[in-house]
Amino acid sequence: MNIKALNGFKDILPGEVELWQRLETLARDIFARFNFSEIRLPILEKTDLFARAIGEATDIVEKEMYTFVDKQVTMRPEATASLLRAYIEHGLHVQKPVQRLFTIGPMFRHERPQKGRLRQFHQMDVEVLGSTSPRVDAEMMAMGAMLLAELGLSVSLEMNSLGCPVCRPGFRTSLLAFLDERHQGLCDDCKRRSSTNPLRVLDCKNPKCREQVLEAPSLLEHLCADCADHLSGVQEGLEQLGVQYSLNKFMVRGLDYYTRTTFEFITGDLGAQAAVGAGGRYDGLIEQLGGPRGVPGIGFALGMERLVLLLQQKEAELTASGVDLFVAGLGEQSSRYGFGLTHALRTGGMRVVMDLEGRSLKSQMKQAGKLGVPYVLILGENELAEGKAVLRNMATQEQQELLLQDEASTVQTLVALISA
Ligand code: HAM
Repeated sequence: MNIKALNGFKDILPGEVELWQRLETLARDIFARFNFSEIRLPILEKTDLFARAIGEATDIVEKEMYTFVDKQVTMRPEATASLLRAYIEHGLHVQKPVQRLFTIGPMFRHERPQKGRLRQFHQMDVEVLGSTSPRVDAEMMAMGAMLLAELGLSVSLEMNSLGCPVCRPGFRTSLLAFLDERHQGLCDDCKRRSSTNPLRVLDCKNPKCREQVLEAPSLLEHLCADCADHLSGVQEGLEQLGVQYSLNKFMVRGLDYYTRTTFEFITGDLGAQAAVGAGGRYDGLIEQLGGPRGVPGIGFALGMERLVLLLQQKEAELTASGVDLFVAGLGEQSSRYGFGLTHALRTGGMRVVMDLEGRSLKSQMKQAGKLGVPYVLILGENELAEGKAVLRNMATQEQQELLLQDEASTVQTLVALISA
């Protein structure tokens, strides 16, 4: 029996990996435009870190973590907790009052796998630590929206405010009273949650619960003056930057650390896995994890599998292979010459493919077509004897004769022609 990958764990094969690279390159470029620095974090952390950061009564901590029970360690289910652990451990707040950090990598959650939902998945995660300015919230959402727009994806942005320790208890009390009256109409999960984590009932996907909470009290109406001010500052910033959004009073998020702003980038094209990215503010978390007092934070993470699925669905050209030139040699002499020239071109920085199997010209041209290369250098026996070769532009079908000088000059000529 062949051994297969675990359910929910996926290989990313050549052909698809180019899309991942494109996504990552663009993200890095955009993160740099907004002055973010990269941080690389370990995959394994103490279990306690996630229990304290994400919350004991969340789905992630209750049932989705890959934990080595005997070692008390867990494969990270998200990046925020690890990033804050590193921020606190290395005293990064001392170096700079406001840190802008991003990290890219795999996360692990034992969820039921389906399209767009894996057990090992990848996030591009960004965090700003040390600023309460509502402009930062707006900037974060604008940055996410910019990345999605530059990928050519149309995704909507939903936002909510979850208030703070001042206003949330009052809201919780009125929500509990509301849920108490509707207890019988809730799904089993929500019956349980309504006492441990009542806010989660608001975003339960079960249609029964959705109907029950339609008239539920809204946090937006319970915000204290500071939270209300903050929210209007965020809205003003979004308007100034031209970011489209809608308020969703039911958005709660599956992690307990959020305060004030929360947001999700939502697509209608991936069925149930609608969120391609999500995040929010977590003003008390750094302190709660033993860090400096009063240092606020905000961030979000984009799900790379979901973005890649969207890119594939819109048939974004599966990146032309990135090859500059295909060298087609016909016969032993030409192949021998081509073999050396290919190496010299690669040394000169070009991406070159050459067929080393002695196939026919027709089959080599087919191969070049499949790769989507812009140019093919055809080395025929007779032409080579006359010190010539043919360079074919695959897009225009035009061919031009090339005089083969010494290798260095030929490389120079080809680089100039192809990069023109
Ligand atoms: P999250 O909502 O749990 O937030 O995940 C963020 C994104 O990761 C989701 O919107 C989704 O695109 C992707 N994602 C989550 N689970 C899976 C999965 N099983 N398979 C595929 N993709 C998935 C967080 O993780 C927070 N740490 C975000 C954050 C950063 N908040 C503040 N800073």
